[in-house]
Amino acid sequence: MDSGWAPPSWEGPGLYALPGQGDGGHDRLGQDRPGQERFGQERRLPSRSGSFAGGTGAWLDRLGGLRNFVRQELVARQLAEQLAGRTSQRVLDIGCGQGTQALRLARAGHYVTGIDSDPVALGVAQGALAEEPAEVRDRMQLLSGDGHQCGRWFGPRSFDVVLCHGVLMYLPDPDPMIASLARLLAPGGLLSLLVRNRDALALRPAAAGDWRAALHAFESDRYYNRLGLAARADRLADLSVTLSEVSVPLKHWYGVRVFTDNAPDDAAPPVDGRQLAQLLEAEDRAGRTNPYRQVAALLHVIGAK
Ligand SMILES: C[S@@+](CC[C@H](N)C(=O)[O-])C[C@H]1O[C@@H](n2cnc3c(N)ncnc32)[C@H](O)[C@@H]1O
Repeated sequence: MDSGWAPPSWEGPGLYALPGQGDGGHDRLGQDRPGQERFGQERRLPSRSGSFAGGTGAWLDRLGGLRNFVRQELVARQLAEQLAGRTSQRVLDIGCGQGTQALRLARAGHYVTGIDSDPVALGVAQGALAEEPAEVRDRMQLLSGDGHQCGRWFGPRSFDVVLCHGVLMYLPDPDPMIASLARLLAPGGLLSLLVRNRDALALRPAAAGDWRAALHAFESDRYYNRLGLAARADRLADLSVTLSEVSVPLKHWYGVRVFTDNAPDDAAPPVDGRQLAQLLEAEDRAGRTNPYRQVAALLHVIGAK
């Protein structure tokens, strides 16, 4: 690294390996992935956010890790807060992936439709659903498809709650997806978006000592994520404008992963129950407190129709 500085407890080259170091720029599926040199060179930066294709293997491998654990727990708590007092809601989860939140909501008594375009991720969700009691299985369906096509499958005002978590960063422009999801919401319905926080985009590369990428993050909303995929970040202020335009104005927002975003990919949640509870409590408090939530890696944005 240019400065000779390395973050504490960062083991292995990770995604920020310099050219010539690390694993040779291939992910676990054997596909090319970007090396650090791409951040600093304008012509080699992603000109558009890509897609999630190619990231599924690494995503699924890391589900039990600390970073995903914190993400899912925080999002679940925040959703529970937003859904307090609502029963038997019709929920659509676009890009449900392995189905973590969809399953939680079905267990809580809601009627959930999960849609994903990736057959492998959907297979994991189906396997998890098969383990649930019959009453949960009866409240949940999993469909294969592209979330952009939802307006063709479901009528306007078909759902009380629509989730779109970890998907918008793979789209070149979030607005068409947000507009089509807004149309599916019934009056009073909630739209829950989980996005990469553009206002904090420099923090992750800076914590890894990648100063070129940190500087680039001030200029661009494009970046390579920890799965090695070209992605895109959103500003809360921009999302707020879009949500107003589609008549689902911003109701509330949280930060997700303030303290643990820079944990190694293979870091596990603490085994000590008290430590784990304190860690989650600290993340939870930060996610709802300024200025911490403003620099969270992810923003959980709630719009209400
Ligand atoms: C990062 S994972 C997030 C999974 C889950 N929503 C969560 O937050 O745990 C992104 C998921 O979105 C899916 N996805 C991406 N673009 C999609 C699209 N246009 N339509 C449907 N699913 C999509 C991917 O296949 C992947 O399973």
